[in-house]
Amino acid sequence: MKKIIIAMDGHSSCGKSTMAKTLAKKIGYTYIDTGAMYRAVTLYAMRRGFIGKNGIDEESLRKELPLIKISFGHENGEQYTILNGENVERQIRGMEVSGNVSPISAIGFVREAMVELQREMGKKGAVIMDGRDIGTTVFPNAELKIFVTATDEIRARRRYDELILKGDNPVYEDVLKNVRERDYIDSHRAVSPLRQADDAIVLDNSGMSYQEQDDWLMEQYLKAAKD
Ligand code: DC
Repeated sequence: MKKIIIAMDGHSSCGKSTMAKTLAKKIGYTYIDTGAMYRAVTLYAMRRGFIGKNGIDEESLRKELPLIKISFGHENGEQYTILNGENVERQIRGMEVSGNVSPISAIGFVREAMVELQREMGKKGAVIMDGRDIGTTVFPNAELKIFVTATDEIRARRRYDELILKGDNPVYEDVLKNVRERDYIDSHRAVSPLRQADDAIVLDNSGMSYQEQDDWLMEQYLKAAKD
């Protein structure tokens, strides 16, 4: 088997990360959650007061960007996100970060820095990278590109259930609104908008069980990595 790069792109909360993590564990690949990286930058900007009622203080964020160090740690088989030495996994998944992450991830210099870091993290291959622009911008030569989608309502329900499991108290309508808003901003931004790469394989997993989608992904991997 060849060691390949697998690019997993698609809409918010479509279950990409669950699928990607499961496959990564089975085949011993490194899983890289690029959404978590944009979320960590957002948390940093929020904490520093760079996101206010009148918008984002881009100049301050640009100056401090070199101070933002993002990496991933592992505990009990689970991956977590580290921002400047602190485990911020829980904070970056909350509604507040979710509400601010799309405008932050639409900023050109933020994307440039993250894309550079992602290329560095993935350059040795044997990685599954999950995001919005992996197959189009980060690794346009990835051997396998998957574009995942599902209906808005199903995606909001999945995100809602995930938040409940984490002990949050979300309102379903707010989650649905957030999913739709993020789709809109992610697909309409000027710099590398969310779009399907021409050579991506599309998966609409609306009616699929975990087992079905995992089997489907494994089949795609086996085809793409065959020597
Ligand atoms: O995958 P996620 O929902 O955790 O991503 C959070 C946000 O980050 C999402 O609204 C879009 C943005 N994002 C991006 O612009 N590019 C990526 N490669 C990954 C995420």
